[in-house]
Amino acid sequence: MNKSKFLAALLFTMALGTQLIVSQTHNLTVDVKKPGSPIQSTMYGIFFEDINYGADGGLYAELIKNRSFDFPQSFMGWNIFGKVELKNDGPFANNPNYVRLSYPGHDHKQTGIENEGFFGVGVTKDADYRFSVWARLPQESPTGSIRIELVDANNNPFTSEQLIFDSKEWKKYKIIFRATKTEAKAKLRIFLTSKGSVELEHVSLFPVDTWKGRENGLRKDLAQALYDLHPGIFRFPGGCIVEGTDLESRYQWKNSVGAVENRKLNENRWHYTFPHRFYPDYFQSYGLGFYEFFQLSEDIGAEPLPIVSVGLACQFQNGCCEAHVAVGELHGYIQDALDLIEFANGDTSTKWGKVRSDMGHPQPFHLKFIGVGNEQWGPEYPERLEPFIKAIRAKYPEIKIIGSSGPDSEGDKFNYLWPEMKRLKVDLVDEHFYRPESWFLTGAGRYDNYDRKGPKVFAGEYACHPKNRKNNFESALCEAAFMTGFERNADVVQMCTYAPLFAHVEGWQWRPDLIWFDNLHSVRSVNYYVQQLYGMHVGTNVLKTLENKLPLTGQNGIYASSAIDKNKNEIYLKIANTANETKKANYTFNGLKKAVRTGTHIVLKSDNLDIENTLENPNAVLPVTNEITVSGNTFEVELAPKSFNLFVIRL
Ligand code: AHR
Repeated sequence: MNKSKFLAALLFTMALGTQLIVSQTHNLTVDVKKPGSPIQSTMYGIFFEDINYGADGGLYAELIKNRSFDFPQSFMGWNIFGKVELKNDGPFANNPNYVRLSYPGHDHKQTGIENEGFFGVGVTKDADYRFSVWARLPQESPTGSIRIELVDANNNPFTSEQLIFDSKEWKKYKIIFRATKTEAKAKLRIFLTSKGSVELEHVSLFPVDTWKGRENGLRKDLAQALYDLHPGIFRFPGGCIVEGTDLESRYQWKNSVGAVENRKLNENRWHYTFPHRFYPDYFQSYGLGFYEFFQLSEDIGAEPLPIVSVGLACQFQNGCCEAHVAVGELHGYIQDALDLIEFANGDTSTKWGKVRSDMGHPQPFHLKFIGVGNEQWGPEYPERLEPFIKAIRAKYPEIKIIGSSGPDSEGDKFNYLWPEMKRLKVDLVDEHFYRPESWFLTGAGRYDNYDRKGPKVFAGEYACHPKNRKNNFESALCEAAFMTGFERNADVVQMCTYAPLFAHVEGWQWRPDLIWFDNLHSVRSVNYYVQQLYGMHVGTNVLKTLENKLPLTGQNGIYASSAIDKNKNEIYLKIANTANETKKANYTFNGLKKAVRTGTHIVLKSDNLDIENTLENPNAVLPVTNEITVSGNTFEVELAPKSFNLFVIRL
């Protein structure tokens, strides 16, 4: 190489090097002087569905499966021995079955029943449990008694109690006992101990220490995990479960309220939806029903958001018409939606307001939103949605209505429904996206060009699905990066909820999921911590955050957005570095007076993209917090490779 060629090559290499170094540093301007669009308090929330044993066997703390013997196979979940008869004229019309236990004919023989719980009955040493049962003595029985035992996985009884019955009328009996051992897979065994027969109905076992100590309560660790998310919105009861496999199995909220013993059992579509994840014992007891959903929303400080059936059973599982209610015959469905609003908000003189009040909540639940239909598509959806909208607007003009954009994040169904939702003037459109990493990384600008005048967006179900469908760190990082786009576009996106929420490690049908559990423990996924970081740092207004007049939506792997909380007087800078190398960001705050300020830097990072938080290793990736100082109106930060960073600056 001659000298001039060598010099040229050297200069080129140096220039490239300079460019490389420059490209590692991002100079961001944050407009503090003019806070932008308001961010709704509903922005980050929770999607609940009874999938993966999320309700029965999960959040709902009942430990007995098929407690009323009303599963189609009446003794599913039970072992019976000795002389046990099934009867069907019990005291609860909607769940009429019960059992009669009778003397087996010899003092050395035994009659009884034994429940296997949900993948076992999970009990903790020294914790108290409330056993309850409805019972009566048949006319010919002068006395009657049972012995209740907890039996461990090796068939050793470890807690035993007697219960004596004294009435020929149906009566509820309760007994509280303390578990003498921790056992994830216990069984509840009941022996008849009298010569006289006894009849038993609604056999139930709850921990006494439920969330808020309620008798028909929720599992405390799981409810606490929801509370800790600081959710703004709580969507229930799903998902596909709203629609049903057929109209018969759709979620009917009226069956889920009133006395718990009389809530009509429904099948759970997730028991057979995936033949390779088949759970024939998965039903919905509705013990966790709409009253409990509203109550939970209130407990965790989230706006309730119920979704009702639009009269279309799951369109994935049905052809064009057989599972649809004719447009002219939707009256009952529309009435259900109106009655639901009355149940939530009506005063106690109204029919459904009284039902709520009689259940223990005379005050209204202040319902503001309702969704009609889940993942619907085609013209059959808007033509059914329209009469719902007319009826709801006529009676409850203040209620915001959410329509669906179908099951896909884009494509024909989506493109057809959005204009239809605009035409029908729904308030928000529910979008669903379960997509791979690349989609999340390239889609952070998705909402930047959405119509500002149309309905708002409710990202009602989303999750990054890596190939192995794990809740791995990479998926969480992709979600965190993508969510900067939610925040930046808070004038359009007003709610978002990750889905699904819960999964039992032995009983899941769908993954990834936000929170995993077994019978005794639970673990918060890395994805959970992303949701929590957003949920705890919502802010009241967006702060425009630009580099060279553009938002950072993945340039060099960087994603950024910022918000201010005018009430707390704090700024939140969210910035994800999805690249493999350390990056720098130089923030300049326009309109911020020079001063020394304190704050925190919270980071979620890992050099193992596939790592997960598991029950065995729940703390594999946790947010780490450090104190920071910001001097003046500039702030230089270093962003570790593969990290999601949240800087809180106290003004
Ligand atoms: O979240 C799991 C399922 O995904 C929901 O029930 C459904 O709406 C979607 O297809």
